[in-house]
Amino acid sequence: MSDAAVQDPLLIPPAVEPPDEPLPYFHALWKLMDNPIEAWPKAVYEEPFYQRGDERQTFLYAADPAMLKDILLDKAEAFPKDWMFDRVTKPALGEGLLTAHGEHWRWQRRAAAPGFRPDNVAAMTPAMVQAAEAALARWRDKGEGARLDIATEMTGITFQVILDTMLSGGEGIDVPVAAQKITDYLETLGKITPADLLQWPTWTRVALAPRGHRAMVYLKAMVDRMVARRRAEAQRDDLVDLLMRAKDPESGRQMDDVLLRDNLLTFIGAGHETTALALTWSLYLLGLSPETAARVRAEIATVAGDDSLTHAHVERLTFTRQVVQESMRLYPSLPLMSRMCAEDTEAGGHPVKKGTFVFLPIYALHRHRRLWRDPDAFDPDRFGPEESAGRHRFAYLPFGGGQRVCIGQTFALIEAVAILATLVRGATLEPDPGHRIRPVMRVSMRPQGGMPMTLRLR
Ligand code: HEM
Repeated sequence: MSDAAVQDPLLIPPAVEPPDEPLPYFHALWKLMDNPIEAWPKAVYEEPFYQRGDERQTFLYAADPAMLKDILLDKAEAFPKDWMFDRVTKPALGEGLLTAHGEHWRWQRRAAAPGFRPDNVAAMTPAMVQAAEAALARWRDKGEGARLDIATEMTGITFQVILDTMLSGGEGIDVPVAAQKITDYLETLGKITPADLLQWPTWTRVALAPRGHRAMVYLKAMVDRMVARRRAEAQRDDLVDLLMRAKDPESGRQMDDVLLRDNLLTFIGAGHETTALALTWSLYLLGLSPETAARVRAEIATVAGDDSLTHAHVERLTFTRQVVQESMRLYPSLPLMSRMCAEDTEAGGHPVKKGTFVFLPIYALHRHRRLWRDPDAFDPDRFGPEESAGRHRFAYLPFGGGQRVCIGQTFALIEAVAILATLVRGATLEPDPGHRIRPVMRVSMRPQGGMPMTLRLR
């Protein structure tokens, strides 16, 4: 056999096993609480769209890029964010950028956009590298063979990055306590609960989740104190200042203290867990594929030698970036988005009735049988220029798409590449063969029970 004919076996990491047929009602309801993605039948991965429901409620799962483009971009006005999303997010995030609708959303988006311009992000790269180097130093103290929960480690790093880059270091914030409160909140009030499915009054969600409520009160008070302090201080030109001074050019309105708090909590919440998960899954996949990790290290050596990474280096780490992109394809931090159809219309040539609940099953889209070759295999080369060239823009949506696309996407990609490269250079992380990896959806897609890995120092 010639060398060219020798193919490396495909690496197929753990995946959700979809049922052949839709689950019976009570089984599906239980799955909705336990791990909603496990309720999606095979058709969601195989057909351009999948529709279910009765005369009261229709559910549409859209996995056709042309349909997704209509929903998120061309006909976005007909597909606003839905009441379930509002119900789960608004108690904590109020009318901030993630949660606001219509004109109130638009002016906030304009106000925050300059903070995420590429030149601003470039200035933040050193803080990202530093946070990863500090973590490596802590790992060295723990020593060769230490067992680390990489999911927790990554959350610690990305939380520090948000504080350093957006909130001038986050003075007055007790980082371990705040991180724990965010986890408490996400595990309780941050997800869909039985009270939501049964459409009980919103106060019942809070009554059923006292730990989450206490966490929310703590976090709001923490940010309120920061806002009060910053109003009285000189300018520092970070995101807090940018939002404090932002003025809608049309109406002249500015953010009051409550809206400022909503937005700061939004950036703290949306801005670190998602990136931490992208890093967790990337490190796991590199742990499963030492050859890919070796390619990443070789690229870093070529681009930066032994120097500490700069923004210019990070921009040139194209293969490392492909590893992050491929990890977010297989394990998107947000595996499901949703919208509500507000008027009779059509999407991707298919009629959609007003009131239809529209699911954007990103996890299934990224493994769709009609869109990807070897859909369940880990292969960063598919994000190389050749294979990427013919791909529909709406076939890959880890950051969403259209007008509500993630405002932090450039920031997050630079951050993930900078941190991944710094860590991979200093350490090898081996997955724990005794730990079963089960991807579960808790709004975001996390490995159940964390991601234990063994540290090998380099
Ligand atoms: C890997 C990391 C990240 C992922 C996967 C991610 C994913 C997403 C997705 C899918 C949406 C769209 C939600 C929808 O349309 O329903 C979104 C929106 C948003 N993201 Fe991210 N995000 C990441 C990092 C960040 C960072 C670092 C920040 C800020 C520092 C951020 C702030 C936001 C905000 C404010 C929105 C709402 C934008 C709007 O509606 O105008 N995200 N993100």
